[in-house]
Amino acid sequence: MAAVVPLEEPAIVCRGLTKRFGTIEALRGVDLAVPRGAVFGLLGPNGAGKTTAIRLWLGLTRPTSGSATVLGEELPPRAALARTGYMPQEVAVYGDLTVAENIALFGRLHGLGDDAIARRTDALLRLVDIPDRRDDLVSTLSGGMRRRMSLAAALVHNPDLLLLDEPTVGVDPELRATFWRFFHRLTARGKTVLITTHYMEEASRCDLVGLLHRGALLARDTPAAIKERTRAENLDDAFLALVRETSEARV
Ligand SMILES: Nc1ncnc2c1ncn2[C@@H]1O[C@H](COP(=O)(O)OP(=O)(O)OP(=O)(O)O)[C@@H](O)[C@H]1O
Ligand SMILES: [Mg+2]
Repeated sequence: MAAVVPLEEPAIVCRGLTKRFGTIEALRGVDLAVPRGAVFGLLGPNGAGKTTAIRLWLGLTRPTSGSATVLGEELPPRAALARTGYMPQEVAVYGDLTVAENIALFGRLHGLGDDAIARRTDALLRLVDIPDRRDDLVSTLSGGMRRRMSLAAALVHNPDLLLLDEPTVGVDPELRATFWRFFHRLTARGKTVLITTHYMEEASRCDLVGLLHRGALLARDTPAAIKERTRAENLDDAFLALVRETSEARV
C-alpha cells in the first residue's frame, strides 16, 4: 500500500543533513523544513553549501550523515523527481538543438506527449519572453537567453517543486521582475519554489529564507522576522549580525 502523505507535510525536510568532501564540510547538520506553497530563498555567500543542498535533494550525491525527505520521499528521491523541476547553476542545455527541441527533450524525458509539449513550449517561451527564438539553435542565444530557456525547460512538466539554483543571475531587471511574479503565481497554486540567490534585495521577496554560512544554517524565518531579531535594516546586515553572533558563540 502506498504511504499516505499528509497534505501539510513540508515539501522538503532535512534532519542533521551533513555532506563532507574530504576535509570540507559543505553542509553541517542542517535541520530545515520548507513548507509547501512557499517561495523559499536559500541564501549564503560563495561556498556556503547551497548547490550541495540542492544536489542532495535531487539524489545526485549522497549525504555523509543525516537524512531528508523531498515531497515526502526519503533520499535519494525517485518518484518525487517526476514532480520536481531543476534549473542548475551552470546552464545545462544542448547548443546543437533549437530552443523548442531542447524543451521537447526535457518534456519527453518526463513522459509528455507531443501535443502537451507543443502547448507547454509556446506558453513557457512567452513567459520567459523569447517566443521569437523558438527555432534558433541554442548556441546562437545570448547567455541570459540561455538561462531563460533553462527555466522554461525546468517547468515543462508542470512540477510541484522547483529547485532553482541562482535562476536570476545574468537576467535583466525587467525579466527578473517577471520571474518573481511568476514564482508567486506558482505558489498561489500550491507549488513550492526553492531558489538560491546572492541578491539580498531578492531575498526580501521570498516568503521564507534560510541563511547558510559555511555549511551551517544560521536562521530560517520570514525576512521580516530575521531583520527584527537582529535589529537590522536589511538582510545583508542581518546576515552579518548572525555570522558575528555564531562566531562569538564558538569562541
Ligand atoms: N564535488 C565536490 N568535491 C569537492 N568539494 C566540493 C564539491 N562540491 C562542492 N564542494 C565544496 O563544498 C563547498 C560548498 O559548495 P557549494 O557549491 O555547495 O556552494 P554554493 O553555496 O553553491 O556556492 P556558490 O554561491 O559559489 O554557488 C565548497 O567549499 C565547495 O568547494
Ligand atoms: Mg552554487
